[in-house]
Order: sequence, then structure tokens, then C-alpha cells
Amino acid sequence: MLELPGLIDPHVHVREPGQTHKEDWDTVTQAALAGGVTTILAMPNTKPPIFDASTLDLALNAAKSKARCDYAQFLGAGPDNADTAAALAPQTAGLKMYLDSTFGELRLDDMTLWMPHFEKFPKDYPIVLHSESRTMAAGILFAAVYDRPIHIAHVSLKEEILLIKAAKERGIKVTCEVCPHHLFLTADSSSLTLGEGRRGEGRREVRPRLAGKEDVEALWQNLDVIDCFATDHAPHTLAEKDSDNPPPGFPGLETLLPLLLIAVDDGRLTIDDVIKRLHTNPRRIFNIPEQPETWIEVDETAEYEIKAADQFTRCGWTPFDGWKVKGKVRKVVLRGQVAFEDGKVLAEQGYGRNVRGLES
Ligand code: DOR
Ligand code: ZN
Repeated sequence: MLELPGLIDPHVHVREPGQTHKEDWDTVTQAALAGGVTTILAMPNTKPPIFDASTLDLALNAAKSKARCDYAQFLGAGPDNADTAAALAPQTAGLKMYLDSTFGELRLDDMTLWMPHFEKFPKDYPIVLHSESRTMAAGILFAAVYDRPIHIAHVSLKEEILLIKAAKERGIKVTCEVCPHHLFLTADSSSLTLGEGRRGEGRREVRPRLAGKEDVEALWQNLDVIDCFATDHAPHTLAEKDSDNPPPGFPGLETLLPLLLIAVDDGRLTIDDVIKRLHTNPRRIFNIPEQPETWIEVDETAEYEIKAADQFTRCGWTPFDGWKVKGKVRKVVLRGQVAFEDGKVLAEQGYGRNVRGLES
């Protein structure tokens, strides 16, 4: 049995408030615990988006009564909330800026709208950027100009990881995360489980898009540049994914560890690489306090098939359905309590704590 610290997923779409038919604070934290994740950082592109004190309250009140693992909530950067966001920073996971194509309403195109956020958001709380390709390059220039840390979400391209490497070498304060789906799937992956006929193509939709072989290889070759693994757990129902207008996103909390353990098994990663990117680094980057008496137990010899029906996420599917993996989370102990054991979530709703400690 492998014993690991409680995993931290810095990129999770909870869907509450507003879209609880996809997921809510209860189901997402059950999925987290089943995946060995004891802390999630929640994204703000809900309905309504989380961008001021009253919308932050909406999310935190739901979390307080329903979450079964620990959490913090990001605030979204809008066109005119830089002062509000800066004042609320201590109650948040950090600030999320959507600068490229995404799901929901939070998107800032004009760079003059980025400036007040870079000027005002306290430097000891992270700014996380959804920024791809050349937009990412602009984000890195902002980090250099304003001399403040940024964290780049879901890096997927060779040109991105190489630029982040170069920026780090120059001392620019940039960190980054990569999602398992960008490490294990390509745009033409035949292993991606699709539905019948063309309709299933919507199941490939994700932002950033799945990339090419060369991009995926570049990510693996530059593991030392990757600070964190993050799921970008983005649940949408199968009916939505198979519709004429499929929303982008994959669930990921329950497949995170078994996928990474494939790479440990075939020698591309070590367990220490995993601990660093799913615990040590996210703790440091996002200022997350230590969870006392918290660990997870993983049976690294258990072989099984990933099945959508076995998952706790409400969305009812996974792009990795049918994948054969090795390594199963057997037990999660969170702050001294057994929170998950042998397929059962034991932590009650409301057991989860806001790691920012200022629950409203
Ligand atoms: O695939 C994605 N899904 N990319 C995003 O940027 C948003 C996310 C979502 O919320 O569904
Ligand atoms: Zn996301």
C-alpha cells in the first residue's frame, strides 16, 4: 500500500451556484475524495459568475453546508471589479482571469482591462490565467512588467511550455499546471471514448483543445517546468456533450491519480514527481495550510477498468471510460477522520473547511 499526502487540485469547476444538474458542492467533493483529493480550488465561471462579495457568499454558503473535503473559491476578474477583488483577496483562492475562449461569461479581451487587476490584486495571492499561445505570452509579459507572480492554467502546447521554461530561466515569476487529459490524449486519440456516430464528437470538446503528438511529447520532455498537475474537472452531462452545441470540458477528479500511476508504472514519472505536483507545489503556490492527520492510501497493484457508472461526479461520463489502469485509492483520512474507504464516501456534507479560514 502506498501512502501519499492528501492531494490538492487547484482547478475544479464545481457548477454551484447555477448549474447543479451538472455537479454541485456535494457531488464534486465526493468525486474529489474518491480520487484522493482532499483540497479543491473552485473556479468562478458559475451562474452567476463569482466576482464580488455577494456572489462569493453564494458559493461559500453552498460549500459550507455541502462540501465533504476542504476547498477555497476563486474570484473572477471582470471589467470593473479590480478594487472589489483586491479587497476580497484574503477570502479567496486567488483571482482567475479568462483571457481566451472558455465556457461562461467571464472573458477579458482588451488588455486595458487586465491592467487594474495586475496593479491591485495583492501579490501574496495568486493570479491564475486562462491564456493560450500568444495570449499566454502577453500574460507572461504582464507578470514581468508588474513584477508579480502568475500561474498559467492547463498548459497544452509545446510553444507554451518552452516559453514558460525560458521565462522561468529569466526569473519571471511564473508557475504552471498541466492536466492529465493533455498528457494522455491527443486531438486524434482513438482511445477517447466516443458515442455512436458523429454526435459523440462533442465529447472531444475541451478548452484548451486536445493537442498534437509533438505537443504532448514536449510536455513529457519538460516535466521539470510543470509545477502542478490539475484536473480542470469540468463536468457537463452526456446529453449536453452529445448535443448540437456541445460545451467544452471533461470531468477529471476520479481519473487523475490512476492515469498518473500508469506513467509511474512505465517509468515516465516517479511517485515523488507526483507528490511534488499534487501536493508540495500547489500548497506553496496557493498558500494552502497543512491539513493535520491527513493522508491517502493507494493500492498500487490493483488493476481495474475505469467505468463511468462507478464515478461520483454527477455528469455521468468520462473520456477515459474503458481504460485499463493500475492503482486504486483505498482510503482517505482527512483531519483525523476516515473520509473515504473502499468505494464509500464517509465524510458528511459540511465536513469540508474553507482553507482561507474566513467562512462567511
Ligand atoms: O474545457 C473547458 N471547460 N475549458 C474552460 O475554459 C472552461 C471549462 C468549463 O467550465 O466547462
Ligand atoms: Zn477550467
